[in-house]
Amino acid sequence: MFKLAPSILAADFARLGDEVAAIEKAGADMVHIDVMDGIFVPNISMGIPVVASLRKVSGMVFDVHLMIRKPSKYIQAFADAGADSITVHIESEGDTSEAIDLIRKAGKKVGLCINPDTPVSALNGFIEKVDMILLMGVQPGFGGQHYMPHVSDKIRELRAICDQVHPECDIEVDGGITLENVEDILSAGANVIVAGSSVFRGDAAAHVKAYKEIFANHG
Ligand code: DX5
Ligand code: ZN
Repeated sequence: MFKLAPSILAADFARLGDEVAAIEKAGADMVHIDVMDGIFVPNISMGIPVVASLRKVSGMVFDVHLMIRKPSKYIQAFADAGADSITVHIESEGDTSEAIDLIRKAGKKVGLCINPDTPVSALNGFIEKVDMILLMGVQPGFGGQHYMPHVSDKIRELRAICDQVHPECDIEVDGGITLENVEDILSAGANVIVAGSSVFRGDAAAHVKAYKEIFANHG
């Protein structure tokens, strides 16, 4: 079953509650929340108070993507604020195993992310320990970039490994996904799709429905 996680990085921050309500009504499966610290990535987005405020107005699944250094320091705070899944980067400064354990202990779904230039082999030993692998389709930091085609080879490689060692592991892909290229990404083996600008630029509800229709028709 394919899932759509619109990234609110591309939403209107002055109307975040309404934007989240609109994508939920249109059938989005979760909300992708991009947290950037200006150090791990060259941009600053949103943090713990935004997650807590949205939690008060939304029952959706919150998929929190931490693009920050030393993520372990903040995992409990994001869990308390209302995250349902927490994803950390293998490239983040800090201990990946410790971060995975902290997310697990907080009772949240565990995600592990790699950048476009990090090989799938970097995930060796971690795949069995997480619930979701997030493959970046662009260099993290900004929405609205173009999907890097070589990432589809990484999706295929990862899907083959997951089929062997952890078939229930979700494969999420994030960055540069559009209504035009999403089918290829699903065909490669992704089952969770993050989409920012292709959902929130223009009619978000219509875009969510268009994605969900593609998912429904995808064999
Ligand atoms: C990039 C973020 C993405 C981004 C996706 O660093 O992790 O989630 O918001 O945006 P689009 O879909 O516009 O590439
Ligand atoms: Zn993201």
